[in-house]
Amino acid sequence: MKQQLDEILAQGRELIAEADSEFALNELKVQFLGKKGKVTALMKGMADLSAEERPAMGKVVNEVKSSLEELFEARFQEVRELDLEKRLSSERIDVTLPGRRLPKGSLHPITLVTDEVVGIFSTLGFGVVEGPEIENDYYNFEALNMPRNHPARDMQDTFYISEDVVLRTHTSPVQIRTMLKQRPPVKVIAPGTVYRRDSDLTHSPMFHQVEGFLVDRQVTFGDLKGTLQTFLNRFFGHEIGVRFRPSFFPFTEPSAEVDIACVICGGKGCRVCKDSGWLEILGCGMIDPEVFKAVGYDPAVVTGYAFGMGLERLCMLKNGINDLRLFFENDIRFLRQF
Ligand code: PHE
Repeated sequence: MKQQLDEILAQGRELIAEADSEFALNELKVQFLGKKGKVTALMKGMADLSAEERPAMGKVVNEVKSSLEELFEARFQEVRELDLEKRLSSERIDVTLPGRRLPKGSLHPITLVTDEVVGIFSTLGFGVVEGPEIENDYYNFEALNMPRNHPARDMQDTFYISEDVVLRTHTSPVQIRTMLKQRPPVKVIAPGTVYRRDSDLTHSPMFHQVEGFLVDRQVTFGDLKGTLQTFLNRFFGHEIGVRFRPSFFPFTEPSAEVDIACVICGGKGCRVCKDSGWLEILGCGMIDPEVFKAVGYDPAVVTGYAFGMGLERLCMLKNGINDLRLFFENDIRFLRQF
């Protein structure tokens, strides 16, 4: 029996040293010291020993048992430390590594141009106002001297929501809304989204305009010309050739369309300006007395000018963009360039 015990101890020592996890150690412990373990089995065998042999044998069994317990305890300790070390090294964070960069967004080119135009007119003393995109027929047409069946309504292919409600076809209704609310002098610009049933290479059903107008005593066409020339010089960054062509709008009289010297060829003639040397850039004129009457201003006392321009067109000319659709496709390769 003594020999068996020594063997158990030797075997235990070897196996304990080999065990490399708490789980494996627990299993081993059951095998050696558990209720059905090897040592326990031997202890049961002691019942067969004579009364003289029993105490000495009992001592040896207890010694082996406590040796094994010590071995287990020591190995448990070691395995726990090894485990901790392993975790510490595998979960180590290098705080000196650079962080992951998040892709940064940017403003849409139309937003940028809007901000720029608003900025320039602000320095010229214009306030900023806005109006609704869903508009009453009255503000979009009627009060702008375009009664029902007026042929000029055909100039703008309108989206009708109902007989009296439209998606605004231009920012000019903001003129009416503003003048109904304020007394002269009024000096504001109104940027915003507008809609027309038109879609091809150079037209989109949704686009953007900036309206501007000034009403006061003794406002002249000369004031309009000076303001627009100043704006265009600043926007394009240099003194730019400007030409006023007689035109027609129901809400201005006289009316004009404004061309700038072609920004591509400088006026010599090229594909972009169709060899004319000029590019159409905005519509404008002196506010029609009929419009003043509609908002309760006295045309005998005040005069005013108004202008409206397309922001997509301004942005295209300034940045040499040749396809209107680029603004609405949201191709990241295009947008990143701004
Ligand atoms: N509202 C006109 C358009 O959309 C532009 C315009 C505005 C013309 C103000 C004259 C005065 O075409």
